[in-house]
Amino acid sequence: MLGFGVVFTYILFLYFQTVVGIWRYKQILEDKELFIVDSTIFLEYEGSSFLEWQYPDGCDVNDKRSPHAVMWCKSPGFQAVKPLISDVSTEKEEERHLYISDSFFRLAWYAVIPLLRNSPEHDPQTVRIWIIDPDRADEAVIKNTAMIPSVYFRYLTKSLFIGGEFAVIELSSFPQTSWSYFTNMGVWEARILGVHEYHHFHMTSQSVSFLGNSVASSQHVFYRTSSEKAHGDEKVSLRLPTGSRMSIVWGACTPHRALLLSDKGTFITKNAFLTYEEIKVDPGELLMPTEGYYLVFDAVLLENGLIFRIGDALFWRDNEEGILRRNPMKLLGEGVKGLSFRTQCADYYPLLGFELATVLAWTDHELYKGGKALDWKTNSNYMSNVLSLPKTTTILTAAFGSQPACLGALVMYTDSVQLSLLTSCETEGIWRTRNILSTNVLQGPFQMLFVSAALETLLVWNKDSMLYSFHNDSEWRYLQIMDSSNLSQEASGSHIHHVVMDHSRNMLVKMENNVLFFCKFGMNKLFRLPTWNDPGRSVVLYLNQKGQIIMLTMLDGGLHVQKYPLQMEIRSAMRGEVHSCPFIGFTHNMNRPVYYIDKEEAIEFWAQIVYHEGKNINVMLSRNKDHVLQITERTHFESVRHLDTTNKTFTIYQDADYRDMTNNSDLIIKNSRNSSDIVTMELLPTQIDNSCNLPKNQISHFFVGCPLNRHIRVIKPQRIPCKMHVFDSYTIPGFVLSNSSKDLTVLYDWKSFGCVLRIHYKDEFRPDIDLYDGETFVHSVDANFIVWENFNREDYYFNATMHQVGCLHEAQTWKSMLVDEKRPEEAWGPHNYKSCFVDNSEKLGNLDQPYEIMNRSSMNYLTFSQENSAIYVFSVKIVDPNYSFCDLRAVFAVQTYGIPELDQLFPLYVLLFQSIITLIILCISFYRYTSIFRDMLQKKCV
Ligand SMILES: *[C@@H]1O[C@H](CO)[C@@H](O)[C@H](O)[C@H]1NC(C)=O
Ligand SMILES: *[C@@H]1O[C@H](CO)[C@@H](O)[C@H](O)[C@H]1NC(C)=O
Ligand SMILES: *[C@@H]1O[C@H](CO)[C@@H](O)[C@H](O)[C@H]1NC(C)=O
Ligand SMILES: *[C@@H]1O[C@H](CO)[C@@H](O)[C@H](O)[C@H]1NC(C)=O
Repeated sequence: MLGFGVVFTYILFLYFQTVVGIWRYKQILEDKELFIVDSTIFLEYEGSSFLEWQYPDGCDVNDKRSPHAVMWCKSPGFQAVKPLISDVSTEKEEERHLYISDSFFRLAWYAVIPLLRNSPEHDPQTVRIWIIDPDRADEAVIKNTAMIPSVYFRYLTKSLFIGGEFAVIELSSFPQTSWSYFTNMGVWEARILGVHEYHHFHMTSQSVSFLGNSVASSQHVFYRTSSEKAHGDEKVSLRLPTGSRMSIVWGACTPHRALLLSDKGTFITKNAFLTYEEIKVDPGELLMPTEGYYLVFDAVLLENGLIFRIGDALFWRDNEEGILRRNPMKLLGEGVKGLSFRTQCADYYPLLGFELATVLAWTDHELYKGGKALDWKTNSNYMSNVLSLPKTTTILTAAFGSQPACLGALVMYTDSVQLSLLTSCETEGIWRTRNILSTNVLQGPFQMLFVSAALETLLVWNKDSMLYSFHNDSEWRYLQIMDSSNLSQEASGSHIHHVVMDHSRNMLVKMENNVLFFCKFGMNKLFRLPTWNDPGRSVVLYLNQKGQIIMLTMLDGGLHVQKYPLQMEIRSAMRGEVHSCPFIGFTHNMNRPVYYIDKEEAIEFWAQIVYHEGKNINVMLSRNKDHVLQITERTHFESVRHLDTTNKTFTIYQDADYRDMTNNSDLIIKNSRNSSDIVTMELLPTQIDNSCNLPKNQISHFFVGCPLNRHIRVIKPQRIPCKMHVFDSYTIPGFVLSNSSKDLTVLYDWKSFGCVLRIHYKDEFRPDIDLYDGETFVHSVDANFIVWENFNREDYYFNATMHQVGCLHEAQTWKSMLVDEKRPEEAWGPHNYKSCFVDNSEKLGNLDQPYEIMNRSSMNYLTFSQENSAIYVFSVKIVDPNYSFCDLRAVFAVQTYGIPELDQLFPLYVLLFQSIITLIILCISFYRYTSIFRDMLQKKCV
């Protein structure tokens, strides 16, 4: 028995030995994968029995006997490289097929933000840009610390600049393009707005080349993070149970913020592991753990703190004080079996006034959700119950759904061996059940991951196998590897550690022994990637905000952070196998996370797929709801030299029946948003393969309602001067007011009313209106609108009568609308507007009254008081109920001039009159005085 044990251990030892000899490769700039002809590739062998590198004739190695060698390839294509090993019985020679391209995009953008100390947080920042040749990069450029270009790079940059090169910078957070200007330092500079914790932008170039080389597009990220607040009293670490594999969580919308849990401690980063630090806690009123550290199982990252699962309770550590707290009122105090964090960003999801959950926690029979921040000070509960199950049903795991507002829980019934999936969307609260499998086949513990999709799509796995379900279908399939569904077997008995998927649906299954399996999500076959890391090492995969896979390895000296060249590894591993993508290219322009569809608006986008002649492949648009939106599609097909191209154009517009439904329920203005108005759509080719490249975005949300920041502006015509700050207040005489006979003094609010249009009192004026989304002009407004004076002036008129505009019956007027309702803001609007051009067999009425509705094409104009120069503050409002879901209003002000006014001259007359009187009095007194004086003189002389 003992003998057997020894032999077994020896076999195990031998086994581990055979895979220990691993090798890796990298480039000078790890971040930019530019594996091109003549570029430098560093080869690195880790193991004991290395002999030399074996490489094809097309390549050169500086020192083939060194485990750390440098290679250049002269010919493009796949290059087979492997280390030769002295003892093949203990180590394995693993061959890679590195794909060397002959692209002329050999140059790269270099970007740096010069450090400005004391610069305020929200200041725009300057990014300095020049062009580098990666093969000539020095240490400072590699580390991204160079602030000025070297002589050669300055020359290179200048040459390309003269050729017409410039950088187009697109911020990834919002659609905005920054233009760069070339400075006499020989670099470009661009201002980028800095309202974020970090800047993330894409740089693209013009097709300019220097000695045949062009600049490759790239992504750049800069962080403005501060380090964790130092808490003097914090001293207790938080660790996973000894021997546990590391685990990691990162913010779905802020992937640069991540929390790494290991049995050595818990580490936090705010800059995608450029720097990281250990999180320790102050036990506060809690007992000091006997081990000297807290044993944690799970953690999540909130905006203002962290939540830990310690034992079967949840604990909270705030960022301010760093104290670990337990409060069963806010967090679950006992029985907690798991904690799960949102994996897909939902910030842009167009639900207003409703915060989607960020955290899920469950006990055996109950599921709870929590938001993105925990307010410790108030009494409100952080966690709220979303699902309570009978004692016969046990929650195994829970996760956020395929659409941002949905959740799912995997449950098991004690009276049956069936596993079921319960799903619900937060805004609906209805739970649906789907059966999965019998537990006889699949044993827990389970994990679950929903993939962002229009129709529910997810993965469920235990230690050894993975199941997936696609697009709401009821079928569950195993992911296969070499015709087996047991991943463990293919990874020498190791278990599934975790699963990471990038934005292009590349999925990596990492085993505990660091074996990696890959598949393009949607395929049922996994395949093994070459070994990248020692099986004994503690490794975890992390997806940064550029969408790159980062391999984090816990070494004795700390965390080793390395970019994993996923694309190259996939290419290398797939070479020689029977993989081939059924299409050559798939592109589309459905690239915004959210599209808003207002009334009578339609959105158009296209998807194009190129494939070899005769393949039966197409583009598929799926959506999660059928009744809200209508889709029409047009197909353009072209076949050139055995290549077929199908370009489908989709037009999305509101379903008329659905519109009528919403019109009835809440008349018109839909400011409250409701998930039933949001349709999620997904674009995919009808067939894919592991070797296909998919674009980054496949899904978008379409919201039927008022677009974000949509508003109207009254055009200030160029010919009319518009003056700011020319007075502070003015008085409206009582006799022109509708609601009082007393004079009214108005303090003019320049900020909200804006400038005053100076209009001659004899001129007519018609406000013209433009529609804007934020600062973006959408189009000019043709719809009917009304105006009213904010301070109830009545001395303005319309120059057309109902008869002149062609009304079929008496039109609505302010007089008729204000009968019951006193406030003009509500009295008349899209909710009660009736057109006078529609014959509704109402009585004809008096058509000689002024027509009080205007639009861009009408001959109806405003006229002003002919007696007084006046200041008017008008509100305008669109009354056409078919125009928009938004409440569209604006304000403009008019000051008339030109009337020679008596009022203004009156004080002058008074003054003149007074002066004349005074002068007369003075004259009389002078005369009197002189005459008295003369009399006196005469008397004296006598
Ligand atoms: C597909 O067709 C639309 C119009 O029908 C066009 O605007 C678009 O550019 C086409 N796509 C490609 C890739 O040519
Ligand atoms: C109202 O005034 C405008 C501008 O002067 C003029 O073009 C229009 O014909 C007038 N409308 C009527 C009905 O007289
Ligand atoms: C604009 O107003 C005129 C009457 O002044 C009317 O005949 C026309 O139909 C209106 N246009 C729209 C788009 O409502
Ligand atoms: C709005 O559109 C509906 C249907 O298209 C139409 O019946 C109705 O008259 C329109 N309303 C107005 C005020 O134009």
